Amino acid sequence: MNPTKLGVCYYPEHWDRSLWREDALRMADLGLSCVRIGEFAWSRFEPSPGAFTWDWCDEAIEALSEAGLKVILGTPTATPPKWLIDAHPEILACDAEGRPRRFGSRRHYCFSSEVYREQSKRIVTAMARRYGGHDAVVAWQTDNEYGCHDTVRSYSPAAQAAFHTWLEDRYGEIAALNEAWGAVFWSQDYRSFDEIDLPNLTVTEPNPSHVLDFCRFSSDQVVSFNRLQTEILRTESPGRDIYHNFMGFYFEFDHFDVGEDIDVAGWDSYPLGFLDIGDFPDSEKALFMRQGHPDFAGFHHDLYRGCGRGRWGVLEQQPGPVNWARNNPAPLPGMVRLWTLEAAAHGAELVSYFRWRQAPFAQEQMHAGLLRPDDQPATGFGEVRQAADDLSRLEAAPAETEHAKAAMIFSYETLWMSEIQPQGSGWYYPALFYHWYSAFRRLGVDVDIVRPGADLSQYSLVAAPSLFHVDDAAMAALTTTDAQLLFGPRSGSKTASFQIPPTLAPGPLQRFLPVTIARSESLSAQHVEAGVFDGLGVSCGVWLDHAETELSPLAATHDHTGLVYRNDRAWLLTTVPDDDFLIRILTKALDAAGVGHMRLPDELRLRRRGALTFAFNYGAHDATLPDATGIGRADILIGAPAMPPSSVTVWK
Ligand code: GAL
Repeated sequence: MNPTKLGVCYYPEHWDRSLWREDALRMADLGLSCVRIGEFAWSRFEPSPGAFTWDWCDEAIEALSEAGLKVILGTPTATPPKWLIDAHPEILACDAEGRPRRFGSRRHYCFSSEVYREQSKRIVTAMARRYGGHDAVVAWQTDNEYGCHDTVRSYSPAAQAAFHTWLEDRYGEIAALNEAWGAVFWSQDYRSFDEIDLPNLTVTEPNPSHVLDFCRFSSDQVVSFNRLQTEILRTESPGRDIYHNFMGFYFEFDHFDVGEDIDVAGWDSYPLGFLDIGDFPDSEKALFMRQGHPDFAGFHHDLYRGCGRGRWGVLEQQPGPVNWARNNPAPLPGMVRLWTLEAAAHGAELVSYFRWRQAPFAQEQMHAGLLRPDDQPATGFGEVRQAADDLSRLEAAPAETEHAKAAMIFSYETLWMSEIQPQGSGWYYPALFYHWYSAFRRLGVDVDIVRPGADLSQYSLVAAPSLFHVDDAAMAALTTTDAQLLFGPRSGSKTASFQIPPTLAPGPLQRFLPVTIARSESLSAQHVEAGVFDGLGVSCGVWLDHAETELSPLAATHDHTGLVYRNDRAWLLTTVPDDDFLIRILTKALDAAGVGHMRLPDELRLRRRGALTFAFNYGAHDATLPDATGIGRADILIGAPAMPPSSVTVWK
């Protein structure tokens, strides 16, 4: 198997120098090969303007390197130091109330601040010149978790000025903007780009086209901020991979766009924290409290593999209780190992645990590490050793990651559009998308997640649970594949500038589906729409598109409103199906596509990597692998067909 390396996040600046060498030897002994450092250390790299102190970092890197460890060096731009903020308070981002964020935590900068961009170039250049040629420094991480703590959209004077330029580049003439935004409505016409405010603090909802452009602009600011760092790193430190660490369930910038400028899409996996704060039913929160939702990690592995064009890894892996969710339980014994092997099964290059030793001070003192603050191994420590042994056992097996047979199209823009104009309180695109993803996974199907416009020619089935605006690139990709195409409700319902298309929804998709959505309604959470599919009852809700078409529906309500249509290889769902209905639709479409599937017990998941199949038991109880997995005839490398809680089975 292409080795999945193990690593850890380490903060030498938090510890006495006398500990560094011993720490490094213990890391290497545990089976780790890679250490991420530096990403918050600006005040120690440059304690006052222009006065750099590298000696501590030189020594820390030497200590790691002497133990045979490789270093991923983080640029420290998530934490501009106090002296810099005091000298240039205009660096601070402003919240939607227009209030500047304050110094004292992190991510307080505005992506649009030209002053901050210059300062970022300065520190990144200095670091890259100092360490860019060091043998032990094999990779960089830009900044840390763009957008964390709600920091992508800033309502600062710097953002406003940059927004004007962005709009002028996009529209050229103010008349074009007025037309695209429908600015005649409520007397919103503008005479010049300079007149345009940011879309906050309006009396009632601002113009949706205005907000959409602000979302696009804010996303582009992240992209260009990241790019100014990658350009420096590529020049000053050639031959090193560049990572960024994306987050869980976070969508405020287009991660596919940032992904274009980096080599490896990293992400930070905290399954228990995100179950607790996530939008899951209480029953699932109770069932998976110590394991995380069985599709949480898989969804992000597949999404970020797409963003990294095949190259991705976990830069921060939860090792024990975190500190930031509403409740912070401990993982079930075995889960740290399970999460590690699951990442390997999805093709991760790296799994790096956050963090080496729990800090006894400051904001994250209640966040577990692999070591306790008293230096004794914490619970996750032994599981990492076991995962390292497992991975070396699998290394001999041929297991390149291949593309899956099914792809799902994820669109950040659809999310922004549907947040701007949800039209129904039950409509939440990430939940809809995740439901479809989870249904495929419970059918044992491996999934690639791709951006609109990505090449689809190698897939047998392509699903877009919703795709509000279908642009030319997306149309070209959909047209040139032979895959079965499944579209969910509201697909093709908007133009690029957030208007209703002249031929109504599904807009350009009418090329595949001779359908006109004459009317749409959103339904309250209490309302369940009942219908019939293949002679059996089904339920759905949240949304209902009413189609005018000559096609006969495959499923319809009792009063003949079509719920699912099919025309040749294109399928359209006009509603949000419940779980059973969704599974039945996907099963039928998978059959049409010739993609194999099996209904797994709810707590089991499978993932293939080349010749290997991995199974994961997310349940708190024993489970048995179904015969349909082929386990009976297989060469078992790890585990057994009878799977205890939080266990892993791997076979060839
Ligand atoms: C991440 C962040 C880390 C640390 C961690 C705690 O969001 O990148 O710096 O704060 O969470 O779980």
